Amino acid sequence: MKTLPDSAKTNDRGHLEIGGCDVLDLAKEFGTPLYVMDEKTLRNRCQQYVTAFKGHYPNSEIVFASKALSAIGISEVIASEGLGFDVASGGELYTVMKAKVDPKKIYFHGNNKSPQEIKEALQAGIGRFVVDNEYELANLDRLTRETGQIAKIHFRVNPGIEAHTHEFIQTGKTDSKFGIGQDQLDNMVGLAREMKNIQLVGLHSHIGSQIFDVKPFVAEAELLLGMVKKYELDEINIGGGLGIAYLPQHVPPSIEHLAREVSSVLKGQTMAKLILEPGRSIVGSAGVTLYTIGAVKDIPGIRKYVLVDGGMSDNPRPILYDAKYQAFIGSRPEETQEETVTVAGRFCESGDVLIKDIKLPAIKIGDILVVSATGAYNFSMASNYNRVGRPAMVLVSEGDAEIVVRRESYEDLVLNDAA
Ligand code: LLP
Repeated sequence: MKTLPDSAKTNDRGHLEIGGCDVLDLAKEFGTPLYVMDEKTLRNRCQQYVTAFKGHYPNSEIVFASKALSAIGISEVIASEGLGFDVASGGELYTVMKAKVDPKKIYFHGNNKSPQEIKEALQAGIGRFVVDNEYELANLDRLTRETGQIAKIHFRVNPGIEAHTHEFIQTGKTDSKFGIGQDQLDNMVGLAREMKNIQLVGLHSHIGSQIFDVKPFVAEAELLLGMVKKYELDEINIGGGLGIAYLPQHVPPSIEHLAREVSSVLKGQTMAKLILEPGRSIVGSAGVTLYTIGAVKDIPGIRKYVLVDGGMSDNPRPILYDAKYQAFIGSRPEETQEETVTVAGRFCESGDVLIKDIKLPAIKIGDILVVSATGAYNFSMASNYNRVGRPAMVLVSEGDAEIVVRRESYEDLVLNDAA
C-alpha cells in the first residue's frame, strides 16, 4: 500500500481507511467520484521539505507550486506550515489570496502573463515576479512606473537541462517556450538594471517534473550558482520536479537526499537564499480518488473492462501522458489479486482508460475503487467533458472529513451559458 497516503490502513472492518475515515463511508456520504486528501500526508510533506532544507541550508524557502492543486482549503493547510506559493495565473493568485496567504510569499510565474494579471499581482503586493521574457519585463516596467511600486524579480533562465523520470540531458541550448536563453541573460540583466522600479534579486529555473534522480538538480544548482555569483544576486530558485511513487516499484529520492545534495553545492560558496517550488511531491501522495464500479464488460479472450463513474475528466493524466496508477478495492484492499482487468472511464472516448491491465481481486458491481496518488495534477487539470460536473474534494483527518471543494451541480455546469 506504498502509493497510498501516510495515514492509510486497513480498519477492523477490513476496509481501507484514510485520515481515520472508512473510504466506504466517505463514498456513501459524499458520493463518487470523490477526491480525498489526507491532511496528515500534506503536513508531513511540507514539514519534511522545511526541516530537510532548513537543516542543510538555513537560508532556504519552500514554495508550493499551486498548479499541482489549487483550492482554498488546501492552500490554507499548506500556508499554515509556513510555505510560500508559486502561482502561474490570475486564478491561482486569486485562490491563494482567498486563503489569506502572506502576499510577500507569493512568486508569480508564467511565460505569458497578461498586463491585467501583472496589475492584479502588483495590487496584491506579491513578493516576486519570475520574469520569463523581454515583453513581460517591459510590461512590468511600465506598470510599476504607473503605480510607483518597486517589483522584485527573478529571471527564469533556460538551464539547458531537461529531466524526466529516469533520465536527464544537459545541452547548451534547449528548445523550450519557457525562460530566457543563457546567451540572452547579459542583455536582460542590463535592461533590468536600467529600470528604476525593477529590482533584479535572483535567478530561477525549472528542469522538469516527476524526476527520480538528484543529479540534474545538482547540475542545475551549480549552473545557477555560477550565474548568481556573476551577476551578484541574492536568490537561487531551482523550481520543482521531485517525483513520487505512482506504482509500488517506483522509488523516488527522499526529500532529505535532495536537500543534502543541493545544499552541498551552495554551502560555503554563497550567502544566497535557496528557493524550491515542489508541487507534486507535496500533494501527490496525499490524494486518492474514489470511484464506484458500474458495468463490467468481459470480452472473452480479449479484455475485461471494469467501468467506473469518472475517468478522463477527473484524471486526464493517463490519456495525456500514458500515466500509470495503482488501485485498490475499498472494502478489501489486501485481498489476493485474482484477475487482470482494465479500468475504464465513463467518457465518450475509447482512450478514456484509467488503468490498463491491473490485477485486482474479483470485482463486484458497486465496489468502491480507490485510485492512489491522485493528489497532484488531477483536480487542477480536470474538465467538464460530456458536461459531467467535477467531483467534490474532501480533506480527511483523525476521523473527520471536511468538504474543501463542492461537487459541481447541473446548475453550476450551465451557470455561464448565456441562454
Ligand atoms: N515550478 C515551475 C516553474 C513549474 O513549471 C512546475 C511544474 C513546478 C514548479 C512544480 O513541479 P512539480 O514539483 O510538481 O514537478 N501536468 C504534468 C506536470 C506539469 C508540471 C509543470 N510545471 C503532470 O501531470 O505530470
